[in-house]
Order: sequence, then structure tokens, then C-alpha cells
Amino acid sequence: MEPLFLYILVLAFPFFVFLSLQILFHEQKSSSILNLPPGRTGWPLLGETLDFLSARRRGHPEKFVLDRITKYSSECFKTSILGQPMAFLCGPSGNKFMFSNENQLIKPWFANSLKKIIPVMEESNTPKVTAVKIVRKLIPQILKPEALQRHVSVMDDITQRHFVSEWEGKDEIVVFPLVRKYTFLLACRVFLSVEDPEVVARLDLFYQVGSGMISIPINFPGTPFNKAIRAMKILRKEFTDIISQRKLDLSMQKATPTQDILSHLLTMFDGDQKHLTSDSDVVADFIIGLLIAGFDGVNSAITFTAKYLAEFPHIYDLVYREQMDIAKSKAPGEPLNWEDIQKMKYSWNVASEVMRLVPPSPGIFREVLHEFMYAGFTIPKGWKLQWSAYTTHLNPEYFPNPDRFDPTRFEGKGPDPYTYVAFGGGTRLCPGRDYARLTILVYMHNMVKRFRWEKLLPNEQVTVALSPHPAKGLPIRLIPHEKNNKQN
Ligand code: HEM
Repeated sequence: MEPLFLYILVLAFPFFVFLSLQILFHEQKSSSILNLPPGRTGWPLLGETLDFLSARRRGHPEKFVLDRITKYSSECFKTSILGQPMAFLCGPSGNKFMFSNENQLIKPWFANSLKKIIPVMEESNTPKVTAVKIVRKLIPQILKPEALQRHVSVMDDITQRHFVSEWEGKDEIVVFPLVRKYTFLLACRVFLSVEDPEVVARLDLFYQVGSGMISIPINFPGTPFNKAIRAMKILRKEFTDIISQRKLDLSMQKATPTQDILSHLLTMFDGDQKHLTSDSDVVADFIIGLLIAGFDGVNSAITFTAKYLAEFPHIYDLVYREQMDIAKSKAPGEPLNWEDIQKMKYSWNVASEVMRLVPPSPGIFREVLHEFMYAGFTIPKGWKLQWSAYTTHLNPEYFPNPDRFDPTRFEGKGPDPYTYVAFGGGTRLCPGRDYARLTILVYMHNMVKRFRWEKLLPNEQVTVALSPHPAKGLPIRLIPHEKNNKQN
């Protein structure tokens, strides 16, 4: 095999050099004709994909963006990622432009790897995709605060049980895998009314799908992409079964329209739209996509909150005081309610500061529908775009001393418009943000009410699959509060 490989390499090399020169020449020519943004498009086909992916894997996805801003332009630069020519629009103006031109100049774009794993994410006009668009439109109604209020006590109950079984009585734990398990169980309960402990065994399949979503789409045994395709097949079958059963239960009134998010979703389709949910695998794919994309962000935010609270004891003390005031105002055994959540203002500022420094969605893609000019540069039709929270979150102009952990930035009027974009903005502002806020705050409440903790690894590396997480999962030593506090 080896000599054959070398032979192919020797034959291919001149062709590769020729192709590179052609592309370089073409790039320079078209840059000067069209005044394309400054930047490099890297190797043929590969572009700068390896730089992009390796910055994520090494835990510094911001480096890819900030290095290029310094080198080329603070407004806009070009690159080529995942086989696509791509421009990054930077700063508050870039964010504003992206959030204001949705479906006029730009539309969502999903990496080929993601479209192959979850085909209904493709935005074209097949009936399946129309169904997905409708499902997506319903999500904000289902996840709005009024609809979520009824879930708060159930969420607190599940969280308390999680702490009893996974945290209490232990000297040391690893935070990230426990949080993953918890958010998954919670979502199964609140979204699907599924409580079967065996469902937890499916958790790894979800993460295999998530890890393959932004990868090089090589379907070869052992690649992240291949694992994701296989995992998706199993999950699709299981979720389709749950959904078909639920439809039956709803039609026979064995399930109620408000019992969980799935019932809500299935009963909100009416009249002409009803037939769209006849395709259970469309709804299944959408819910799986939602669980993967949404919950990776929540896991990341909770885990990094635990990390920063360990690093800054004075901030931990303020969170502790706020949460204990709430805990002490409750009767024994009384669960948290919606009003309690509204009182957790400082705790939410802490979580927001965590998501400023470590945005759970580090970059979002779009596709250009019509050529346009931005900051004096031409952005051609068909190019891909990316907006990245790093271009504002870590910029001293908008967040002085950007590396300093300071939750007071979110007090008063808070950051300037279009600078803090952890949940995006415009028509695609994250519809899951209230659910995320609820989950994060209920977890923080239960965590600080019971423990202080210390990090076991002083400089643990970060890695990014979909969202960032500590490479070793954040091992910590637990220091339980005195018994009387613990029982509050
Ligand atoms: C801390 C947690 C989360 C963060 C930081 C986050 C962040 C984001 C961001 C930045 C976007 C905008 C994407 C874009 O511009 O294309 C988005 C969209 C979305 N998020 Fe979240 N998200 C979180 C949790 C959730 C959860 C828990 C759910 C579901 C329960 C969810 C559901 C969605 C959906 C459905 C969209 C697509 C909206 C659309 O395309 O119209 N997210 N999220």
C-alpha cells in the first residue's frame, strides 16, 4: 500500500501546486476586480478549515477570529472554511447587519456535514423543509416565559434529585458529564415526558451526533462524521416511535395537549398544516436537532459558571447570598417558582458574564442571497458569512478589560446594543433563551445552596465540539455547607 500511496502523491504533487497557483492567481484577480474583503482563502478545497477546526479543538476558537481582525480588518475579512468562500462581518455593525437582513440579503446556512446528518435542516422548498420552518416558527410560542412557568417546580424537583444522587456524599466530582446527564434528563422530561432511566444510555449517541455536525464530511468508519450518521439513524428510529405513539395517545385522549413540549408542538398544527406532522421523522429530526444544539449551550454555560465561581470566591459569596435569601423565604420542601427565578438578578449577571467570555455558540453561518457591499467591500452572492460573538465580546472598546470577569457589566442598562450577542439577535434570536436561563439558574441555586468547591486542575484546557467545554470535564473537590444550610 505504502509505495502506491507515495506514487500517487508524487504524481499528484505538481497538479496540486498548479491548482494552488491557479486559485491564488484567480483569487488576486477577482479580489482586485470585485474589491473583496482582505484575508486568505488558504489551500484549495481545504481553505483554512484545518486552522479553524484546530483552533476550536485546542480551546481557542477566538484566536482564529481575533488574529485575522488584527491582521486584515476590524470590519470584515475573508477566509474559506468547510469548502466555502466565507466573510466574517465583525463588531456591532457586523452583528446589526446580520440580524437586520435575514431572508433579504442573507439566509441561514448549515455546514454540509450537518445537512447530511440532519437532512431536514436544508433550507429549500420541499414539503419536509416547509414542515421544519413551521415547527421552527412554533418554538418561540412554546418556549415563551408564560408557557415555561408551569415547568419551574418540576425542574427544581428533578434538579434536587440530581444533586442527591450525583453530588451529595461525594468528595470529588467531574462537572461537565454530570451536567450533560442532568440537562438531558430534564429535557426528556419537559419536552417528551420520558423518564425512563435507560434513556440516559442514549446520551452518548446525542453527543456523537453533535460532535459530527461541524466536521469534515468524510463518511469513513471511525470519523466523527460517520459516527454521527450512525448515531442519528438509531435516534431517529427511537424518536419517531415516541412521536407516533404520542400522536395516537393524543387522538385517543390518553395524552393531553399541554403535558409537555412535544404534545404542545403536535397540537399546535391546525387545518391545512396538520398533514405536515404526519411525517413523524420530520418532527423527530427537528426535536433531535433542538436538543443537541440547545443543550450543548446550556451544558457549556453551567459548567463554566461552576469554573468561574470556583476561581472568584467573592463572586461566589454574592451569588450564595442571593440564592440563600430565596431559599430562606421558602417553606420546607417548597419548590422554586417563577417569581423566585426573577429575583436571581445577580446570579443571571454572573451567567451572562460567563457567556460573554465563553460564548456557547461561538459562530453562526449564513449564505448570501444577493451580492451586497459591506464596509466598502463586495460580498458576492453565494458566499457564506459568519458572525462571531468574539468580535464584540472580547473587544476592549465595548467591554473594557475584556479578560476580567466582571458581572457588574450587566447592571443598569448593560452592554451597548449589538455588543452582547450570546443568544444572537433579530428574527433568529434564540427562542430557547428563557428555557436556558431557567435551567442555568435552577442549577446554580441548587449548586451554591449545598456546596462550595475547588478546581482540581488549575489550568485545564478548553475544547470546542459544538460549544466549548473543559477538556477534562472540570473535576472539582466538594466542600458541603454546614448541615443546617444544606437542608434549606
Ligand atoms: C445557553 C444556551 C443557549 C445559547 C447560548 C443559545 C444561542 C443561540 C444563538 C446564538 C442562536 C442564533 C442562531 C442564529 O443566528 O442562526 C440560537 C438559535 C436557536 N436556539 Fe438557542 N441557545 C441556547 C439554548 C437553546 C435552547 C435550550 C433551545 C431549545 C430549547 C434553543 C433553541 C434554539 C433554536 C430553535 C434556534 C433557531 C432559531 C431560528 O433559526 O429561528 N437554544 N441559539
